[in-house]
Amino acid sequence: MKKILAYFETVSESFRSGTALRVAANRLLVVWIPLSFVMGAVAWYYEVERFEERVMRDAVHDAERIQYADLERYYHNEINLDDLHILLQRLLNDSDFVSAEIYSGSKKEIIREVGERAAVISRDLWDKAEDMQIPDYPYTEITNADRVTAIATAPIKDALGNINGYLKGICVVKDGALSEMKEDSVGAALISITSTLLTMMIIFPIIIALQRMILVQAKRILEGNFELLEVLGNAVAQRDSDTDTHNYRVTLYALTLAKHIKLHDDIIRVIMIGSFLHDIGKIGISDAILLKPGKLTAEEFEVMKSHVTIGVDILRNSSWVSQAISIVGCHHEKFDGTGYPNGIKGESIPLEARLFAIVDVFDALTTRRPYKEPRSLEESLQIMRHDNGRHFDPAIFAGFEEVAERMYQEIGTAPYENLRKDLLHEAHKYIRVDG
Ligand SMILES: [Fe+2]
Repeated sequence: MKKILAYFETVSESFRSGTALRVAANRLLVVWIPLSFVMGAVAWYYEVERFEERVMRDAVHDAERIQYADLERYYHNEINLDDLHILLQRLLNDSDFVSAEIYSGSKKEIIREVGERAAVISRDLWDKAEDMQIPDYPYTEITNADRVTAIATAPIKDALGNINGYLKGICVVKDGALSEMKEDSVGAALISITSTLLTMMIIFPIIIALQRMILVQAKRILEGNFELLEVLGNAVAQRDSDTDTHNYRVTLYALTLAKHIKLHDDIIRVIMIGSFLHDIGKIGISDAILLKPGKLTAEEFEVMKSHVTIGVDILRNSSWVSQAISIVGCHHEKFDGTGYPNGIKGESIPLEARLFAIVDVFDALTTRRPYKEPRSLEESLQIMRHDNGRHFDPAIFAGFEEVAERMYQEIGTAPYENLRKDLLHEAHKYIRVDG
């Protein structure tokens, strides 16, 4: 009972969730429309086939109404051609036959009767019926040119089963039967479409509930992934500086710039993870160097530079965070090739790393560090412009200049709680569970 209640609770909650409802409804609609079309067409086709089978069956059945007994009496001159005419007229009156012929056992025509309704028969059909060979078994050929017609033949057998004559004729299905068939076909198609719709309506809440459960799980995994990012990124930030807001700020800067220059969502996801973990390798740098208040010696700087390769090694073994490697490994490369660790230049540096280098420097300049006061926005931009084309990719820098002031106002001075909330919001948009 508890499970049933929980199920309905999930379903009703799902209906309240606009997104889940919309996604499921869209998907079901995409399935229902073609499925209805196919099911309706199958039902229509089945009805038409059934109707044609009935026409053929009735034609043969009516053709067999001419008995050998009547023919035998004619052969023995007990009745004449006029009597056979009457027999055929009855057949034409009581059935769909509009013309009928009786043949002898040697397939010579004995008599032919053409009714008034035969006027609707086309020349082609007359020719076809004329040319048709008469087999020794009941046979019907149906045509749907402009109306449903059939050419039917049936052998006339004596009591011992010997064939002593044949009947051949053309049937034209009466308009009433035809419209009845059309109504039946439309009805069958509609029933089929309605059944499909009802089935969809029954399974709709079940799909919604399942989808809702998947979304809940996905949200948990996503938040778990986000927390993993925070734990890893902040582990370094806590050692490196008084505050860990740098990671949040620099990641939000990078996301803002990436969206402004209209990068693809897949690259934005990489930028989000890579920006947050960019200095993860500093975890392997000793305190003596990492926290040294003064300028580093050349040897110490060489050690400090190794945080890039250490970071790549740390992330390499995780399929999820390894997406960050392009930024972690290249965030100190410079556009003119004077950076490290590999001195690559221009577009050889991954796009996301070229973008990140800009916002990383921007944050360093505009925030307070133990060894310096923050610089103003304009002052920071002046310094950075000097490095445009040397340190920074000019194409990305142009976009950065367009959004720098807005980024600075919205992110630069925001408190930790706001930054974290904003980044979690972005994570929901860009971090996929399967990514
Ligand atoms: Fe770094």
